[in-house]
Amino acid sequence: MVKNNISNIMIIFGGTGDLTHRKLMPALYNLKYQKILPENFAVVSVGRRDKTEEQYRKEVLESVKNYSRFDIDEKVWQDLSERIYYKRFDFVYDNGYMELSSFLKELDENYNTKGNRVYYLAVAPEYFGIIVEKLYRHGMVNNETSWQRVVIEKPFGEDLESARKLNKMITDVFTERNTYRIDHYLGKEMLQNIMVIRFANVFFEPVWNRRYIDNVQISSNEIVGIENRGGYYEKAGALRDMVQNHMMQLLTLTAMEPPVNLDTESIRDEKVKVLKSLEIFTPEAVEKNVVRGQYAGYRQEDKVSPTSNTETFVALKVHVENFRWAGVPFYIRTGKRMPEKSTQIVIQFKPLPGILYFKEYKNLLPNLLVIKIQPEEGVKLQFNAKVPGAGDITIQPVDMDFCQNCQISNNSPEAYERLLYDVMRGDSTLFTRWDEVEYSWKFVDAIAEAWKDKTPDFPNYQPGTWGPKEANELLLRDNRMWWNV
Ligand code: BG6
Repeated sequence: MVKNNISNIMIIFGGTGDLTHRKLMPALYNLKYQKILPENFAVVSVGRRDKTEEQYRKEVLESVKNYSRFDIDEKVWQDLSERIYYKRFDFVYDNGYMELSSFLKELDENYNTKGNRVYYLAVAPEYFGIIVEKLYRHGMVNNETSWQRVVIEKPFGEDLESARKLNKMITDVFTERNTYRIDHYLGKEMLQNIMVIRFANVFFEPVWNRRYIDNVQISSNEIVGIENRGGYYEKAGALRDMVQNHMMQLLTLTAMEPPVNLDTESIRDEKVKVLKSLEIFTPEAVEKNVVRGQYAGYRQEDKVSPTSNTETFVALKVHVENFRWAGVPFYIRTGKRMPEKSTQIVIQFKPLPGILYFKEYKNLLPNLLVIKIQPEEGVKLQFNAKVPGAGDITIQPVDMDFCQNCQISNNSPEAYERLLYDVMRGDSTLFTRWDEVEYSWKFVDAIAEAWKDKTPDFPNYQPGTWGPKEANELLLRDNRMWWNV
């Protein structure tokens, strides 16, 4: 049963944007469909485009039809759509907020939402500060008898300095506790499963360290290019768009120590320790350990400079400098226009000792544990076994494969369903705490800084390939290879 205190009105700034249509509204519909959405709930979308409420609801219905994982149930949709409102105003002017404030109070009466608010900022980052400041100025935050939370989409700043400024602006008004920094990867089922796999199975924890693990490979590959996001992507590049947030989250969950308990802050504390232990690269280390790439054709994309040096691919090798991981390389790779869409973590175990009289056992493939995040969700263990038959012993690698989303009953929730629900109930475990952001920017800034003065030889990879050849050389140099399993 839904508890009373999760009653709220969600206000989406950027209500006509892509994120709202593709992710937020379908997620709200899916929550409603599963009867998880609070009884006392309404959503107000704020946008700059002129449209009637009726028009807006129709558009939302189309998006829900296209992107929701459940089919449209007339009754469910009817109930949700009646709670969707559209307000047109420009975020930078005060009068819109005045009207919004009194409209929300009216809705509080109708829906018994008691002043609770989720302010969702699905807008370009330059508006984050302005909106927060206006909400404060118009008395829409810090009502003592209710709660107000703010949800911030990435990018959270474009480097450490800008992130700090932004953070100050937001937390001065909302406090850290009510600030929800989205990293939608944390909403993915398998990311939440990493901790369970590691800490709920006796056979993983004892070998999860430098004594048994040779290296860790974390990849997130996409087939798509930058689609229509040239304006944003030109400034971000793969380093800021993927490495600073999603890849760092995958890394921390893989490398963290067991938390003392499963409380939000205990988990976040352990994640931060991993980020603090990352080696911060010198320019020489960047040269050696980081590869950047740009796909052929990127410079011809819409809103992209014909001489752009923005990277659409990054591969890097980094060490987590603590007792558990000393000496174990973590290889990270992410890119657009790759051969497949896949996100996975491959743990490669060390070889067995070479024993002179076990000649059949020479050149065995290593044991691999693959945590498959998407599109397939599951875990695969590769180990060696005998090929059946009489004759000489031949050994081959075989797989134990658990596919979570292949099971008929499984229909994994979309990341945003989980995340929106967690904001409403005040659980920030799956959101990024400020110090996580801070340390990952420190790591990323050192790379960006080293790149600044060097002109890369772009484009350097063909769409549909695994990035520039230097990405393979990064591992070959260490007598290793990427496992594209
Ligand atoms: C977003 C990035 O955060 O994540 C996009 O801005 C990227 O560039 C996307 O395509 C990938 O998300 P997913 O869930 O498709 O792996």
